[in-house]
Amino acid sequence: MTSSSRQRFNQVSGLIRPGFSRYRNRLLLGFAALIGVDFLQLIIPRLLKIAVDGLAAGRATERTLLVIGLFILLTAVIAAFLRFCWRYLIVGFSRLLERDIRNRIYAHVLTMDRPFLEKHTTGDIMAHVSNDLQAVQMACGIGLVSAFDALVMSTAAICFMLYIDVELTLLALLPMPLLAVSTRILTSRLHHRFNLVQEQFAQLTEFVRSALVSIRLIKAYTMESLQKRDFEKLGKKFVRSNIKVAYVQGLLFPLATLVGHLGMLMVLYFGGRFAIEGKISLGDFVAFVTYLSMLVWPMMAIGWVASLAQRGLTSLNRIQTLLSTVPLLKDPTDTGEDAAPGEPSFRLRNLTFTYPNGTHPALRNISLELRRGVHGITGRTGSGKSTLCKLLVRMYPVDDGTLYFGGRDVNSLPLRTVRDRIGYVGQEAVLFSATVRENIAFARPEAEFEEIVAAARAAVIHDDIISFPHGYETVVGERGVTLSGGQRQRVALARALLSDRPVLIIDDALSALDVETEDEVLRSFTGAGRDRLVLLVSQRIKLLSGTDGVIILEKGEIADRGLHKDLLSRNDFYQIMYAKQSRENAGKEEGAAPAMTAVGRRSGEEDA
Ligand SMILES: Nc1ncnc2c1ncn2[C@@H]1O[C@H](COP(=O)(O)OP(=O)(O)OP(=O)(O)O)[C@@H](O)[C@H]1O
Ligand SMILES: [Mg+2]
Repeated sequence: MTSSSRQRFNQVSGLIRPGFSRYRNRLLLGFAALIGVDFLQLIIPRLLKIAVDGLAAGRATERTLLVIGLFILLTAVIAAFLRFCWRYLIVGFSRLLERDIRNRIYAHVLTMDRPFLEKHTTGDIMAHVSNDLQAVQMACGIGLVSAFDALVMSTAAICFMLYIDVELTLLALLPMPLLAVSTRILTSRLHHRFNLVQEQFAQLTEFVRSALVSIRLIKAYTMESLQKRDFEKLGKKFVRSNIKVAYVQGLLFPLATLVGHLGMLMVLYFGGRFAIEGKISLGDFVAFVTYLSMLVWPMMAIGWVASLAQRGLTSLNRIQTLLSTVPLLKDPTDTGEDAAPGEPSFRLRNLTFTYPNGTHPALRNISLELRRGVHGITGRTGSGKSTLCKLLVRMYPVDDGTLYFGGRDVNSLPLRTVRDRIGYVGQEAVLFSATVRENIAFARPEAEFEEIVAAARAAVIHDDIISFPHGYETVVGERGVTLSGGQRQRVALARALLSDRPVLIIDDALSALDVETEDEVLRSFTGAGRDRLVLLVSQRIKLLSGTDGVIILEKGEIADRGLHKDLLSRNDFYQIMYAKQSRENAGKEEGAAPAMTAVGRRSGEEDA
């Protein structure tokens, strides 16, 4: 082992070592029970020998035979109980170990940043917590037991056989290496084929997952039959690989029994001769045959255990790689001193940012000061508005000295300190499959119901909610009702409002609202004493006109900045946007029936 591979081995075994010491007592008890079972199993042939020898010598009476039979039964009963014990203890251990590692993976994934989550797909992470963990659990549970058991049983059985007759033992074991070698070859092939099955299973599940996520799209484009065909193709491949596995497995077990019978042939022929010659007693002969049959399983287990261990190690390696990725986003530990910046404010100094997988900067040379008040951000699609918001909520790393929060370089502040002060509503509203109430109270689970209602009213979603079948207790998402785009946005907004944080960043989250609702929503967070720092990304002139200033981004740079009325008089982009939206609104008003105008006014974007 080279020093680097030894280091790797230490790292990987470091994942399971704590489990072994934590559940040491459980393991020790389990293995004690296992040894007990093995011992009792080895005793049975000795009892048989006594009975047979008694019979052969004509000494045996009905009574002695019954006593011996009862002894065998008693041994079997105790062995059965101990077998239950070791299974419960050791397989239980492997489940506990699995749980601990799963918790570690989950905790680790939660600490990861956006770049990590962009690199590892959901399917990838799911594979780690299902297939890989299962392989580790198998290796540390049934694999460990089998290895130990095979070792103890084969050693003991061979010792007992040697004790009966050395020469006969050697003769009986003659075909055994054949079994060991062929098992080894077959299991390594099995291992390879099994990998293929796992891979194809992952493909199959990933296919279903992505199809379910985009089921509406599939239906809208009537792609069902194509999807069905692709799925069938994958299914066929999966079955073919499984049959290949069955083929190897089908060879393995008959081969083992065949070799066992070869050994039996040797024992019958030579052992029988020894018995006739009186070299061994008839009882010894029977006991010997029983011991030999006990050897078949450990021989088969060798190859199987080797492949289990191999798979477990491969999976541990994959898990270790996942766990050892460090987030790009540094999170300085909370020193306690001066961690909480006073006045919520942002200062950006020549901030340039390129996405980890990007080729050119998404933001270039941004210098900006944001204090209390409502700030609008606008610009063409792809101009970097969302990127700016994501940097402010600390989703991606920034260079030292380019971004300050409350006067402190964000790289010197714990992520919590910044994020705890920001209510963020992303461009796509994220709702959980939970009740509306739970969704709104997500950031403040302890909030009173009245507060939740107040936030919902402020986000103009209260009336919609009470019209749902179970009001605030209505489950949304996959298992419940489906909300419209605008409703989702307003629930997400209510969540941000309830979190009641000094900074509110709303990334284009009002785009699906109609003008009336939009006004009301805007009033709800500009009205409240204006003691917040609100950042409002929008393409809607109406919304922007209500802000304390507007920033126009273009190709990642600040193209202009000023008050609504000033921009209207000097900025081309702003003027064009204004003219277009006025025209659209006017057109809609003309087109609509007079009684409908008040509710019918909508911006062109919503229809897009
Ligand atoms: N995760 C990402 N990885 C790499 N590049 C990205 C990523 N997200 C956005 N970009 C790129 O960064 C640029 C700015 O994107 P951004 O989402 O900030 O635009 P935007 O102004 O919010 O647009 P929109 O109005 O459509 O929401 C785009 O060129 C986009 O392709
Ligand atoms: Mg955006």
